[in-house]
Amino acid sequence: PARAVAAMADQDPKTLDELNAIIRRTEPLVPGATQAVLGEGPVGATVAFVGEQPGDQEDRQGRPFVGPAGQLLSRAMAEAGIDRGVSYLTNAVKHFKFEERGKRRIHQKPTAGEVSHYRWWLDRELEFVAPKLVVALGATAVLALTGKAVPITRARGPFRFDRHDNRFQGFITVHPSYLLRLPDEAKEEAYAAFVDDLRRVQALGR
Ligand code: URA
Repeated sequence: PARAVAAMADQDPKTLDELNAIIRRTEPLVPGATQAVLGEGPVGATVAFVGEQPGDQEDRQGRPFVGPAGQLLSRAMAEAGIDRGVSYLTNAVKHFKFEERGKRRIHQKPTAGEVSHYRWWLDRELEFVAPKLVVALGATAVLALTGKAVPITRARGPFRFDRHDNRFQGFITVHPSYLLRLPDEAKEEAYAAFVDDLRRVQALGR
């Protein structure tokens, strides 16, 4: 891992493609992932969404937000009038970390150290994409973007991500997988609040 960090800092990618080539050929910090899951969407996208790390489906398919949480996100984006195809979607951590239980691969939350390890990539990525607005989906994204643990319930809403060379108008909301984990009786209201947040994102990105 130490070598990987040094290797990261030594590199000087000039474009998103060059950065992605570096990410693709770097070993995962925690072994196990099938492949790196790169960000997806156009350079110059108005809005960039930052999640936590790829899940099981993302790891298999090599694309961000294609599993259950991603499908929920897509549905909420569509309801809020945000076109996923012109948005940029990425993750704080680029490799799936999991624990095997029988045939299932159970997602393991990245540690603060892992988030910090992957931050160099995220910073460069956002520099190249240069969105007008960066949306943090959940606490791991906030940690990656600010370097601080900020409780989502308190910070939810517009937020300025202001860190050395990265300055972005931001917005903090919950992670879609949090909505999936809620008890059924709480889901509807929480989902509606999430769509409301995305409507505000849509308005800010206009
Ligand atoms: N959760 C995330 O944070 N990112 C993905 O890509 C999928 C699920």
